[in-house]
Amino acid sequence: MTIETLLEEYQDHLRDSFNKYTRKAFQMLPELDKPHILDIGCGSGIPTIELAMMSNGQIIGLDIQQSLLDKLERKIEESGLSDRVRTVKCSMFEIDFPDESFDIIWAEGSINAIGFENGLKTWRRFLKPDAFLVVHDDNKDIINKRRQIPECGYNLHGYFSLPRDAWWIDYFSPLEKKIKELRMKYSDDPEALKILEEKQNENEIFKADPENLGSVFYIMQKV
Ligand SMILES: C[S@@+](CC[C@H](N)C(=O)[O-])C[C@H]1O[C@@H](n2cnc3c(N)ncnc32)[C@H](O)[C@@H]1O
Repeated sequence: MTIETLLEEYQDHLRDSFNKYTRKAFQMLPELDKPHILDIGCGSGIPTIELAMMSNGQIIGLDIQQSLLDKLERKIEESGLSDRVRTVKCSMFEIDFPDESFDIIWAEGSINAIGFENGLKTWRRFLKPDAFLVVHDDNKDIINKRRQIPECGYNLHGYFSLPRDAWWIDYFSPLEKKIKELRMKYSDDPEALKILEEKQNENEIFKADPENLGSVFYIMQKV
């Protein structure tokens, strides 16, 4: 296994512990029978699979990176979910489903690529009347974003912040420990050490802005 794969798998493993928040957000929705769900920026599909487990719906995981969708494809097969979950490689800027296709659009950690307001406006037409948009976002500019929700044609149905230290305790701190461990293990492998240093630098940049260490869920209903 390459060092990149090892790191990716460990990050996926850490990301798994955030599924409790995905479940909490899902439980804030009314019960929907066989909902059609679009997971935008699904990555390797950690929330996508969770959504399939919690619902009896049809789920599409959409992402721009084929390598991540390949991982999701493997998880779909391993979990026996091929009849209900599929992937689509597409940019979130170029989504091409018929209007009013979905009961729920889900987007965790991805709306920043298109911008909060732009995402809300662009994706609205794909929702059926009264359908839901659930966004897990950084905790920047919350007042402005909450103002944009009604302006973009939604009601704020629910909202919660993750506990203050969740990202640090459950993600960045163990990731840093793992990087340290791997640096020792690969101390005579300059290529591996370079990759580990890059990953650590990414973490440092992230940690430098404390606002990056918080995130919130917005549960919105189309009006
Ligand atoms: C932080 S990851 C979140 C992945 C997943 N939703 C999760 O919570 O684990 C952001 C994802 O957005 C995807 N993404 C970024 N820009 C995109 C775009 N223009 N269209 C579709 N997906 C995009 C990335 O490929 C990545 O998988």
